[in-house]
Amino acid sequence: MPLGVAHLFCMIMERASLFILSLFFAVSCSQYQPTWDSLDKRPLPEWYDEAKIGIFLHWGVFSVPSFGGGDYAEWFWYNWKGSKKAPTVAFMEKNYPPDFTYPDFAPMFKAELFDPNKWASLLQNSGAKYVVLTSKHLEGFTNWPSKASWNWNSVDTGPHRDLVNDLAAAIRNSTDIYFGLYYCMFELLNPIYIEERANGFNTQVYPKEVTLPQVVEIVNAYKPDIIWSDGEWEAPDTYWNSTEFLAWVYNESPVKDHVIVNDRWGKGSRCTHGGFFNCGDHYNPRTLQKHKWENAFSMDKTSWGYRRDAVLSDYYTIEEILEEVVSTVSCGGNALINIGPTHDGRIVPVFEKRLAQLGAWLKINGEAIYSSKPWTHQNDSSTGNVWYTTSYNAVHVYAIALEWPDDNILKLGSVKASSGSTATMLGYGKVNFETSSNGVVQVSFPNLPLDTPLMWAWVIIRFDGVSSY
Ligand SMILES: *[C@@H]1O[C@H](CO)[C@@H](O)[C@H](O)[C@H]1NC(C)=O
Ligand SMILES: *[C@@H]1O[C@H](CO)[C@@H](O)[C@H](O)[C@H]1NC(C)=O
Ligand SMILES: *[C@@H]1O[C@H](CO)[C@@H](O)[C@H](O)[C@H]1NC(C)=O
Repeated sequence: MPLGVAHLFCMIMERASLFILSLFFAVSCSQYQPTWDSLDKRPLPEWYDEAKIGIFLHWGVFSVPSFGGGDYAEWFWYNWKGSKKAPTVAFMEKNYPPDFTYPDFAPMFKAELFDPNKWASLLQNSGAKYVVLTSKHLEGFTNWPSKASWNWNSVDTGPHRDLVNDLAAAIRNSTDIYFGLYYCMFELLNPIYIEERANGFNTQVYPKEVTLPQVVEIVNAYKPDIIWSDGEWEAPDTYWNSTEFLAWVYNESPVKDHVIVNDRWGKGSRCTHGGFFNCGDHYNPRTLQKHKWENAFSMDKTSWGYRRDAVLSDYYTIEEILEEVVSTVSCGGNALINIGPTHDGRIVPVFEKRLAQLGAWLKINGEAIYSSKPWTHQNDSSTGNVWYTTSYNAVHVYAIALEWPDDNILKLGSVKASSGSTATMLGYGKVNFETSSNGVVQVSFPNLPLDTPLMWAWVIIRFDGVSSY
């Protein structure tokens, strides 16, 4: 029977205290089967759609060289020894002795300035409702003391701290932010993984010895609200035992009731299986999607890990960040915005500033973002760069204008006003509008000082009592 019906049936059985019967049904009721058919039917816990905004943190040994050379800085080891990218190879030749190995970077990952309470407060003030930290990237170094990563983790070497625990504790102590963990399944330079790939993934030594023990460890130890998987794409999900793992997560794990997962669980699973859909990095389809999705993008346009060779123009401006956020939320997505902390545990001023700007904008305009729903129309590109959302109860319609309109008049073709309709600019107050003879609503923008958070993305008009064309 369909899962929803089955679930209802179970609840009735349990309520009815049909003891024997409910014992029998407890097995089939609460259990997801290790098949995509079954797992894909799990409803997403609601908190995730309401949260809308998350911050992604890419942090690891790669934060020590923190060098991109035109590539992802978090891929440094692979750029150097795997694909042998010329800028990375040259960087190493020029700056390090010939016998220097990548693991020699680990003792330099000290995190000596890492103050988790300070991070927690920066994140809280950004207006984000969830955070996702890299627990392990493709270098294999774990930011917690993994039993399956002896001497290649943040407690045995480097910071000598359980970074995952320290951040989770601070976030949970002083914020209302959900705590998620990123986990990279493959390690592109791990000899066991390389061998199994060469053999067409016919054996499962690497998943059995590394990935499965590790993902179970992080779920049990840190109870993440999000499991953000990656590095899945070369091997089928059967190699990773993804469906078995997810059935355990959904049925039995300590996070079973509220956890959210993404869609990166094996070759071909993106945009198809799992929880919310990431599809690809910087995924932003700009059209309404049927399935809950997330736009994960980095403030540094060409890297997720911190990169010392970045210049200011490599970073998104606050206007560009808000353009991503607004177009994403209008189409039913969440925005996961990445920053890369430094090896010594700082969040550099450019990221600090963007986080603060985001928070200032959301403080005024957040009611159009958090818990909002897509409206009948997503954008009003015919008359200007405008995106819409509606409040969860559909009482308000929000028009978010990304550009200040010509002659201070915003023209909207999708909104149908009637005699009782009103319009309010958030953070300002009531604004006047009229409907022209061709049905276009024309909102008069006020004169505002130029440097206010209202001016970034830019202004939200909350309509009450309108409908749509
Ligand atoms: C909890 O948060 C408060 C406020 O930020 C802080 O003063 C306190 O040190 C934190 N406690 C722990 C155990 O981190
Ligand atoms: C992992 O998957 C294989 C087949 O792909 C299966 O034989 C094995 O039982 C699974 N292991 C676990 C722990 O579920
Ligand atoms: C506006 O929405 C339409 C229809 O969904 C879409 O085709 C178009 O690309 C969107 N405009 C922008 C600027 O993204």
